[in-house]
Amino acid sequence: MTTETTKIKGLLQTLSKIHSSLKIEEVLETSLREIVNLLGSEAGSIWEVDERKGELFFRSIVGSAAPRLRGKKLKLGEGIAGTVAVTGKSLLIDNVESDVRWKREFDEESNFKTQNLLTFPLVTGGRAIGVIQLLNKPGGFRKEDLNLLSILSAPISIALENAKLYTRIRKIFKETSLSLAMAIEKRDPYTGGHTKRVLTYSRAIGEMLKLDEEALEQLELSAILHDIGKIGIPDAVLRKKEPLNDEERKIIERHPVIGAEIVMGVEGMERILEGIKYHHERCDGSGYPDGLTCSEIPLFAKIIAIADVFDALTTQRPYKRALSAEEALQYLKERKSRQFWGPGVDALEKALNSQVL
Ligand SMILES: [Fe+2]
Repeated sequence: MTTETTKIKGLLQTLSKIHSSLKIEEVLETSLREIVNLLGSEAGSIWEVDERKGELFFRSIVGSAAPRLRGKKLKLGEGIAGTVAVTGKSLLIDNVESDVRWKREFDEESNFKTQNLLTFPLVTGGRAIGVIQLLNKPGGFRKEDLNLLSILSAPISIALENAKLYTRIRKIFKETSLSLAMAIEKRDPYTGGHTKRVLTYSRAIGEMLKLDEEALEQLELSAILHDIGKIGIPDAVLRKKEPLNDEERKIIERHPVIGAEIVMGVEGMERILEGIKYHHERCDGSGYPDGLTCSEIPLFAKIIAIADVFDALTTQRPYKRALSAEEALQYLKERKSRQFWGPGVDALEKALNSQVL
């Protein structure tokens, strides 16, 4: 390994340690579930305050209406949760229907009937960072429930604070990786903006394929770092204006393996590695480094390959004009299943047609 590749590997190792040691979000959901059971209620939620936007959003939901409620928001001061977030005072309400603050749209949209509730502020450092809300206890919530919740709210507040921190760190990890990849990309004079566009196309394909949020996040990191191995390619080859000879081509074609060496052994980067190592493989076995066929190429690599080629075709290079998006898509479709993974090409077409891109 060259000094540069070793340095980058060390940096990624440090960043990924911070990234993977803070899987605290699940703690919040589990705690909420336990509190819902403990108090004998039907459902519950944890709202987080977004001070910048002046609103609250669901961080965790437990109960039958959960899938229909995700993504819903309240303005600070609006509804019962919004009121508790502003006043910092808990509310125990026996008959929700008769409370003017109650936002009944949520019930209507989610087919849920709220009867009674208990809402408690989650406070750290003297300010409400969120709210915990428990719904529908047979016979209504009592003073003892409120006391119990006031005790449990302290560790929940800390868990929420940590979850907020975790979200920020994940964002910073992605941004740092992107800056790193873009700095490396700058050495190659023909690829301005390539990493960012491959990231956008890969994410769009992943969304159309309905990958879950965790897989999408890993796919994004893989797309960001897909050409990181170019750091190990000498300038004389990488920046050469004239067409490359066979030997130089072989040197360039080492970048997926160099990239894989950089992230190898970095905790939590196993799937990310696959996208880096195999993004130049082709379904018919004509790619490199290992000449894998479609069923052997990992999912992320098949997606990134499509995004990578689509961007290369639609970008102007000194030796060729840029194709339009339609022409580039046609190129990929003509080689579907032979070179490029069929469902991935279909997903890209869907993303282009539905204005996601
Ligand atoms: Fe590449």
